[in-house]
Amino acid sequence: MSLVLFVPDDAAAVSVGADRVAAALAVAAEERGLDLRLVRNGSRGMLWLEPLVEWDGPDGRMAFGPVAPDEAGSLLDAISSGTGHPRALGPTEEIDYLKNQERLTFARVGVIDPLSVRDFEAHGGLEGLKTALTMTEEAICEAVLQSGLRGRGGAGFPAGIKWHTVREQAQAEKYICCNADEGDSGTFADRMLMEGDPFTLLEGMVIAGFATGARQGIVYIRSEYPHAISKMTRAIEALEEAGWLGGNIRGSGKDFRVSIRRGAGAYICGEESSMLNSIEGRRGTVRSKPPIPAIHGLFGKPTVVNNVLTLATVPVVLAKGAEFYKDFGMGRSRGTQAFQLAGNIRRGGLVEKAFGVTIRELIETFGGGTATGRPFRTAQLGGPLGAYVSEEMLDLPMDYEALAEHKAMLGHGGITVFDETVDMAEMARFAFEFCEEESCGKCTPCRIGAVRGRETVEKILRGENVARNIALIEDLCELMTDGSLCAMGGLTPMPVLSAILLFPEDFDRASALAAE
Ligand SMILES: Cc1cc2nc3c(=O)[nH]c(=O)nc-3n(C[C@H](O)[C@H](O)[C@H](O)COP(=O)(O)O)c2cc1C
Ligand code: SF4
Repeated sequence: MSLVLFVPDDAAAVSVGADRVAAALAVAAEERGLDLRLVRNGSRGMLWLEPLVEWDGPDGRMAFGPVAPDEAGSLLDAISSGTGHPRALGPTEEIDYLKNQERLTFARVGVIDPLSVRDFEAHGGLEGLKTALTMTEEAICEAVLQSGLRGRGGAGFPAGIKWHTVREQAQAEKYICCNADEGDSGTFADRMLMEGDPFTLLEGMVIAGFATGARQGIVYIRSEYPHAISKMTRAIEALEEAGWLGGNIRGSGKDFRVSIRRGAGAYICGEESSMLNSIEGRRGTVRSKPPIPAIHGLFGKPTVVNNVLTLATVPVVLAKGAEFYKDFGMGRSRGTQAFQLAGNIRRGGLVEKAFGVTIRELIETFGGGTATGRPFRTAQLGGPLGAYVSEEMLDLPMDYEALAEHKAMLGHGGITVFDETVDMAEMARFAFEFCEEESCGKCTPCRIGAVRGRETVEKILRGENVARNIALIEDLCELMTDGSLCAMGGLTPMPVLSAILLFPEDFDRASALAAE
């Protein structure tokens, strides 16, 4: 009987040596005459434990981590002889970090062989698509609407409304564009999903095609994700071979094809209309709205633009029903969200939980506080355009509306943690600098505002007319919020103003300089 071991080939695991561990295990097995079957799975999302090796034993999956290449031999010996090993963590599913999650979108990530259609199906894959084949276009869109699923790319727009709009358009040519640009600092959920369970995303895209009448899908993946591009490319081939993608899918008379476009390397290419321009081969600049992409999108045709996680969540919605999905969450934030813990945090990784989990539970219970062990100072929620939160705000629930009430946002679910050593005036300067670097330049409030904002924060850092310059920044932020064409310029004020409001002491540079 062969010994089955799982070693992730997820980019995060590979970056800390998973390939070397896999190679060492193969050599050590050969030396011991063991019949080893090595599965390269996705990451379980417990990044501090990578490379995480799992043994599929008589009592289920047993975890070991983080494993170094020179521990391969001792690991195999421990497994073969049934003795302990210093890296043993017990049953994988019993590790608190995993056990206390509610994995719906990520249910199969790290569990299955990402490129085995058979494994995918054995773990509930294709159930949603099979259900969709029995439904009308309208009924599929309605199920997605009723589930309460909102766009996971940041704006939280109801996916069902977007799908209904595309479905109602009369044109024969329509597109499903999957936004896999994932530009937010500290986020990695889209990548993890594409590398760990690519068929789920493709299944969601086929369902979106059936629901709207589109026959062509495009996944726009950032060029910095070569592993995801390779995995998605091979997954498309495998699903086509299995008859679940391509022409006349499983004899249904319906076609749906998917191709991949490599991103152009700019943050703004993640904004949906810039992304459409980039796919068309144009420069990634923002288009004015209206018209919205659902009516006039790719090549002027009706287009669904959805984030990876939005599309990858649709299969579970159809497989288990809108009511099942809607049961998770709070208020108007239904279902689960893949939170990504990053920055100065002890246990960084992916936590899928129902909306309503508090920031504190994520950072402290799951994340274990700061990696440095120094006191927590702040966390930025929702990527580089999101607000900073203070210690007093940690009991806020992760819910679109609750955060908006506190001038914060959930965005793509990224949480970047900072300890007491962070300088919030520097962070405000960085927010403007980021906007200056990444602005597409189409509208003045963002193009010029970001430069003037950075210059003004630099004056504050030098202790020049601090009160007057803070007032100037607040004025500028109002203009950028109200006058920018897209959320790049429109949201840059969020980190800036939250830093000023919550951490005024960091802006009091004149007193600090005088005291020196
Ligand atoms: C500057 C900027 C960058 C963005 N980057 C991304 C991104 O990387 N990935 C993404 O899915 N959405 C991104 N968005 C949001 C998209 O414009 C769009 O709302 C989203 O792709 C729609 O899909 P959803 O409804 O499934 O969230 C960005 C928006 C802005 C303004
Ligand atoms: S806000 Fe910035 S990124 Fe958006 S359209 Fe204007 S210049 Fe371009």
